[in-house]
Amino acid sequence: MKTRPNTTLLEVQDLHACYGKSHILQGVNFHVGEGEVVSLLGRNGSGRSTTLKAIMGLVPPTSGQVLLEGRDLVGERSYKICKSGVGYVPEEREIFANLTVDENLCMGQQPAHSGTPEWTVEKMFDYFPRLKERRNTKAGNLSGGEQQMLTMCRTLLGNPKVLLIDEPTEGLAPKVVTVVGEAIKDIHQRGVSIVLVEQKLAIALKVSSHVCVMGHGRIVFEGTPDELTGNSKLLTEWLAV
Ligand SMILES: Nc1ncnc2c1ncn2[C@@H]1O[C@H](COP(=O)(O)OP(=O)(O)OP(=O)(O)O)[C@@H](O)[C@H]1O
Ligand SMILES: [Mg+2]
Repeated sequence: MKTRPNTTLLEVQDLHACYGKSHILQGVNFHVGEGEVVSLLGRNGSGRSTTLKAIMGLVPPTSGQVLLEGRDLVGERSYKICKSGVGYVPEEREIFANLTVDENLCMGQQPAHSGTPEWTVEKMFDYFPRLKERRNTKAGNLSGGEQQMLTMCRTLLGNPKVLLIDEPTEGLAPKVVTVVGEAIKDIHQRGVSIVLVEQKLAIALKVSSHVCVMGHGRIVFEGTPDELTGNSKLLTEWLAV
């Protein structure tokens, strides 16, 4: 069996969160080891996006802990959580529509935390040459896929220790899906730890070192991608595959 890294970067402990009276996260527990890609899988509405938002403080946790290198982030403002080294690529593409691609990328730049790779605008253009071609275009005029790439690049330029990515391939053309999948693999190989929410199981399995399946606001399974694919009952019950 593949062992997990000794060093834990991000640890989510018994996390609860609500929207009004709806108790959505009901004790989420998982961790991300240094250099791991951990996927959060599950059916629609299982609480995957809410988990990422709760880590970022965008939905305030009602109890539980989010430890980054042992330090609890719960209760901190989102921008501080971001500054501590947690990068977040939300499902909704977050771009500055009136600024150009280059200007959007500049907005994301932050000095590297020691130990994490220093990302550059040129590296972003290597991943996504399309963005280079459109570097002087206003971001609001980009296609949905290009906006998605731009959001991911801008977040990476903040040199996060751990990157949370919510459905990066949603609504993208198949060719672009492959490009994004390859970029995620490369980002991982360069040492960034990732929490990935991805609806396309094939992609999630390909890029993940560890997978967590969510159901009813909790983690109902965790293991290796092989352990998941070998468990047909689980796939049917929790992923409707
Ligand atoms: N802003 C909100 N207000 C009230 N309820 C919400 C809000 N956002 C999400 N929910 C509810 O919380 C539950 C979990 O939603 P979440 O967005 O975390 O699911 P998900 O696993 O990301 O699935 P998907 O992205 O496919 O919708 C769902 O029942 C959803 O209806
Ligand atoms: Mg979601």
